[in-house]
Amino acid sequence: MAAQAQAPIIIKFSHVVAPDTPKGKGAQRFKELAEQRTGGKVKIELYPNSQLYKDKEEMEALQLGSVQMLAPSLAKFGPLGVKDFEVFDLPFIFKDQAAFRAVTEGPVGADLFKKLEPKGIKGLAYWDNGFHIMSANKPLHNVADFKGLKMRIQSSKVLDAQMRALGAIPQVMAFSELYQALQSGVVDGCEGVPSNFYTQKTYEVQKHTTISNHGHLAYAVIVNKKFWDGLPADIRTTLEGAVKDATTYANAIAATENQVALDKMRASGKTTIYTLTPAESAEWKKALMPVHKEMESRVGKATVEAVYKAAGFVPSK
Ligand code: LMR
Repeated sequence: MAAQAQAPIIIKFSHVVAPDTPKGKGAQRFKELAEQRTGGKVKIELYPNSQLYKDKEEMEALQLGSVQMLAPSLAKFGPLGVKDFEVFDLPFIFKDQAAFRAVTEGPVGADLFKKLEPKGIKGLAYWDNGFHIMSANKPLHNVADFKGLKMRIQSSKVLDAQMRALGAIPQVMAFSELYQALQSGVVDGCEGVPSNFYTQKTYEVQKHTTISNHGHLAYAVIVNKKFWDGLPADIRTTLEGAVKDATTYANAIAATENQVALDKMRASGKTTIYTLTPAESAEWKKALMPVHKEMESRVGKATVEAVYKAAGFVPSK
């Protein structure tokens, strides 16, 4: 009897950003590698741009098994009750990409992933997307410039404390609603990375952009644990290899992609791009460093200290 062709295993991979971003391209690379290396036994369906779910819903959908794979920002685990992940939102905690990688590629990153398992989630990899910049319709040079501004944030208590420390009014909002909210004036400004500002076109409705590098954006590639553990072992191993190689790729392109996006924003003439002077940066730091202590008990002292150590971060007195 002829062997019947088996229906492929479908993995729905949902995310909130555009395909033409480091995360979007990393997801695409994973799809190609996974489908090719499993000889078509696995099919990866990509759903970018929040087309299936917005930020909060996508996490619920993963836990329910309506989607199998996501790559949310690390800020999105706090609302799930895994507050340790908010350590990544602490202002100025990573001096460079290497400091961030020293955390995520070592035992601290692995320990944090273990904390997701009781939630039915398995962490497979961390994807770096570089440093945050700020935008508004007025120049943001000094801390006083933030006074009274409504700033969109992701749902993170650390980011909330950060905006308050600057004198701004934080507003939690889904990523997919950001452009509209800025355009209509529901919020005055936001923080983010250039690849997102460019692809969401938010720079077209924000006259001023400040390169501040005050925060960092990264993602966790995660799967529904039950689904993942239930895969045939050989398929799972092949997919793990595809995630590993897609991770190398996504991490390798992030800095360049963000630089290209920033250059395109500048060339558009729609927003004025300003880089903080060392004195201004020091003023921001002075205003923001108290957030570390303020949030320590929420995030967890042990986690904060482990990240400091791995990242080589020395809190200023
Ligand atoms: C955001 O909500 O600003 C980010 O998490 C979007 C992203 O890059 O996933």
